[in-house]
Amino acid sequence: MTQHLADALPTSTGTQPGWWREAVIYQVYPRSFADSNGDGMGDLEGIRSRLPYLKELGVDAVWLSPFYASPQADAGYDVADYRAIDPMFGTLHDADAVIREAHALDLRIIVDLVPNHCSDQHEWFKQALREGPGTPLRERFHFRPGRGAGGEEPPNDWESIFGGPAWTRVPDGEWYLHLFAPEQPDFNWEHPAVQDEFRSILRFWLDLGADGFRIDVAHGLVKAPGLPDLGRDEQLKLLGNQVLPFFDQDGVHEIYRSWRLVLDEYAGDRIGVAEAWTPSADRTAMYLRPDELHQAFNFHYLNTDWDAEALRGAIDDSLDSMRPVGAPTTWVLSNHDVVRHRTRFGSLERARAAALLMLALPGSAYVYQGEELGLPEVTDLPDEVRQDPSFFKANGQDGLRDGCRVPIPWSGEEAPYGFGTGGSWLPQPAEWAGLSVAAQTGDPASTLELYRAALRIRRAHPALGAGDGVEWLPAPEGVLAFRRGDFVCTANTTDVPVRLPAPGTALLSSTDLAEPDLLPADSTVWWQG
Ligand code: GLC
Repeated sequence: MTQHLADALPTSTGTQPGWWREAVIYQVYPRSFADSNGDGMGDLEGIRSRLPYLKELGVDAVWLSPFYASPQADAGYDVADYRAIDPMFGTLHDADAVIREAHALDLRIIVDLVPNHCSDQHEWFKQALREGPGTPLRERFHFRPGRGAGGEEPPNDWESIFGGPAWTRVPDGEWYLHLFAPEQPDFNWEHPAVQDEFRSILRFWLDLGADGFRIDVAHGLVKAPGLPDLGRDEQLKLLGNQVLPFFDQDGVHEIYRSWRLVLDEYAGDRIGVAEAWTPSADRTAMYLRPDELHQAFNFHYLNTDWDAEALRGAIDDSLDSMRPVGAPTTWVLSNHDVVRHRTRFGSLERARAAALLMLALPGSAYVYQGEELGLPEVTDLPDEVRQDPSFFKANGQDGLRDGCRVPIPWSGEEAPYGFGTGGSWLPQPAEWAGLSVAAQTGDPASTLELYRAALRIRRAHPALGAGDGVEWLPAPEGVLAFRRGDFVCTANTTDVPVRLPAPGTALLSSTDLAEPDLLPADSTVWWQG
């Protein structure tokens, strides 16, 4: 394979902070980003062709949601072959081209790794089914006899996160565990072959030049010994924080310590990012001890309303919990599993204000594709086009996930708005013509230009980016004000303008500042002062 630029980039030794301590990482959801072959599905060649857009936007790295060979029972989070690309997305050659071209633009690439479960079409699982009870391949998964007369009841009372029992019975009478869809059997992480296989998969992508991994359901790999009953009847939520016998078990940390050794074998500061839903910020910090992973998603922040007091609490808790382990705090407002924050917060003004607030905080930030365009959730998708497996379960998620996955608009007056030359796998609303990249480019009032300006300032301003604290300033109720060196950020979360003496010269504001000492409703302002 080609020599990758990442190999030549500096590593985080001594006092030099690692790039990931302050990176803005852009999440690409491959099926909905850009479609190069007109089949209505985004693909790797589409992503490659749009890398200059991401460079110009000003992000540091790109996280790609799964593009591996998959029957797509859960939009690619059901992986049949971890070393192959699904033909819908392209070829391994295309993946290599994305990584190489990204590196040439000085953008890093983080790939999504799904270690908790695979697809029921993975070779190991198919072989386990063929070979029957008691055979070695079954030990790589959680196969058990059922309970009750004739084993007709599931082995325990665990519920799947998408709704219904977490167990499915196979024709020979055994049941297998799947915390998600029945098409996503959970691996048995006690098994050495599973551990070896994933270290080898890490190396495969590191050799190809990947700068890191976003680790799906990082808290789920180890299950409590004996798979004990939960003893209560409750539907689990994505991004939940319950104490459970299949999440956040202490044994997961040994896995991440062994992965860290692999990451550290490679030059170029390769990282692991945990998608870990744990009962507390301190439990999340355990994944980020110096010999484990580098970052974790901050779901506490994502789940916080547009409310000054709540935000300040979440910001302080997040910073406090990371300080003891020396890991950077991360910030995120949207991703492919939640309602887009413009819709969650109720207005574009709030979404823009929330973005400036997030980008002013110390640490690393995640931007989900389309949020830089101010896209809302699509709430009126017809049932027949929906693909989210949770939709098909009566007890599934209350927030269905297709509405945040609608392909993004690039240009033009009609759907698919430059997404591709064919259609788009989910229909785009008519109003999206005005939200396209082309429509917003060059318009200083647009959300796209707001993100571009914010990322430019964030990169240039010495007080922004990495850090582990903020200095709170006195502010009226409903307003947040904090200082970082000679930089001040104020955010008015109320729906009325608030008087506050200008703390300096305004650098950027999410809503026009008519008077410097009058903060508009639902706005954030960056100040030099
Ligand atoms: C993660 C992913 C989500 C997926 C689930 C199962 O939460 O973000 O999209 O459905 O894992 O892999």
